[in-house]
Amino acid sequence: MLEGKRILVTGVVNRRSIAFAVAERAQQLGADVILTSFGRIRRMTERSAARLPKAVEVVELDVNSERDLEALPAEIARTWDGVDGVLHAIAHAPGDALGGNFMGAPRASAIAAFETSAYSYKALARALTPLLEEASLVGLDFDAGVAWPSYDWMGVAKAALESTSRYLARELGPGGHRSNLISAGPIATAAASGVPGFSSLADSWRAGAPLGWEVTDPYPVADAVCLLFSDLSRAISGEIVHVDGGYHAVGGLMAPITPETARAVS
Ligand SMILES: NC(=O)c1ccc[n+]([C@@H]2O[C@H](COP(=O)([O-])OP(=O)(O)OC[C@H]3O[C@@H](n4cnc5c(N)ncnc54)[C@H](O)[C@@H]3O)[C@@H](O)[C@H]2O)c1
Repeated sequence: MLEGKRILVTGVVNRRSIAFAVAERAQQLGADVILTSFGRIRRMTERSAARLPKAVEVVELDVNSERDLEALPAEIARTWDGVDGVLHAIAHAPGDALGGNFMGAPRASAIAAFETSAYSYKALARALTPLLEEASLVGLDFDAGVAWPSYDWMGVAKAALESTSRYLARELGPGGHRSNLISAGPIATAAASGVPGFSSLADSWRAGAPLGWEVTDPYPVADAVCLLFSDLSRAISGEIVHVDGGYHAVGGLMAPITPETARAVS
C-alpha cells in the first residue's frame, strides 16, 4: 500500500510511542522512513529505531527550534529528493498546564502547550514545503470537541491543532498536498503517563467504546495513519478520523454483555 513512499515520522521516543507503531507499519507496507528526534532523547529514539524492521536514519528536530527547522530540508535531501508523507506526533505541556488546575495555569504554560503541540504542525509543514510531492500530512489528535478531566490546556492546544490542520488543508491543497488528523483513543505512552488521570480516561474507554479499546495497542491508530498516507485516501483532506473504538459516537456506558445478549446477537 505504501510501496515507494518516503515518509518522515516525528515523535518516536520509545517503542510505546504511537509514532513507533506508525514507522513499523509503514515499513511493513513498503515505505522508506526517516525519523526525527532531538537533544538528550535522541539516543532513546536511536535505540528504538534499531528495533524497526528496516534500518532508518534519525535527523535532528526540536520543532520549536528555528535553526532545526531551517536545516531540516537539507538534512532530508541528503537521502531523498522529495517527501510523500509526514507524521506529526508531537505534544508537550508543562505540568502546571495539566492536571485539573485549568483556571490557575500560568499564561506562559498555556502558550508553551500551544507552541509545541499545535503551532509546530504548521512550522513543520512550512519547513518541508520545498520537498513535498503530492504529500499526505497526518497529525495525532485527542478529541477536542469536549472538555476532559485533567487534560486542560493540552485540550485547548488540541483544539488549535484541529483548526491548524484545516488551515493546512486549505493552504497546501492547491499544491496537491493533504492534511488530516487521527483522533485516537487513549494509548499508554510516555506522553500519556504525564497526563494526571489518564487511567480514568482509559477506564471510560474500556467501559464506553462500542468496539472495545485496548490502551496498550497503538496499531489500530498506526494502520489508520498508513491509510491516510496511501493513495486510497487521495481525496481526503481537512478531515479528523476517529480511531477510538467508536467512543466519540456514543453517550453513556455500554450495557454489560450477559449470556442472553450474547446469544441474541450471535
Ligand atoms: N497517548 C495517547 O493517549 C494519545 C491519544 C491521542 C493523541 N495522542 C497524540 O499522539 C502524539 C504522540 O504522542 P504519544 O502518546 O505517542 O507519546 P510519546 O511520548 O511517545 O510521543 C510524544 C513525542 O513528542 C516529542 N516532542 C515533544 N516536544 C518536542 C519538540 N519540542 N520537538 C520535537 N519533538 C517533541 C517527544 O520527543 C515524543 O517523541 C501526541 O501528539 C499526542 O498528543 C496521544
